[in-house]
Amino acid sequence: MLKKTLIIAAAAGLFATTVAAQTNLFKPEDGVKYRQSIYRVMGAQTKVMGAMVKGEIDFDAEALHQRALNLGNVSGLLGETYFPETRGARGSNLLPKAWNDMDGFRAKGQNFGTALQELIEVSGQPGFDSAKARPVVAKVMQSCKSCHDEYRK
Ligand code: HEC
Repeated sequence: MLKKTLIIAAAAGLFATTVAAQTNLFKPEDGVKYRQSIYRVMGAQTKVMGAMVKGEIDFDAEALHQRALNLGNVSGLLGETYFPETRGARGSNLLPKAWNDMDGFRAKGQNFGTALQELIEVSGQPGFDSAKARPVVAKVMQSCKSCHDEYRK
């Protein structure tokens, strides 16, 4: 239950507007660096998951589940890095299109949240193995790529 709440918060957190007072502390360029750091932490999680389902490293159900939880925890912080002053900030690879098509961008975030929620649930069940992991991990990865293809330089 707690896990579920967490992921819904992660998906909904994209473009949260209630954190304005706290994000005022960040210069736009620093907000972008913060955002990119979060994405890198996310990339590290999916790298390990990907290696497991491809058989490059030993499959470990518990470790994969933990990686999925890590993704949920860090992605929940993304929303506060998307404050308006970061629009067009130096070093950002976010396409301006995202700001003009916020519904579309948010939908990509929600697809990711849904795929991740499924992964968290499935990976926490007994009997979770490589064959079960493959399609759900692929879905998460696909949700990353589909947002990048459309909204990232
Ligand atoms: C809703 C859209 C969206 C989703 C979903 C998404 N990303 Fe991204 N990602 C972006 C955007 C936009 C940037 C560029 C941010 C910037 O430079 O301001 C980015 C940047 C990155 C970067 C580069 C960070 C850097 O150092 O510049 C990595 C790595 C990354 N994402 C990994 C992932 C992974 C892994 C997932 C899925 C688990 C994912 N992303 C899901 C939109 C998304």
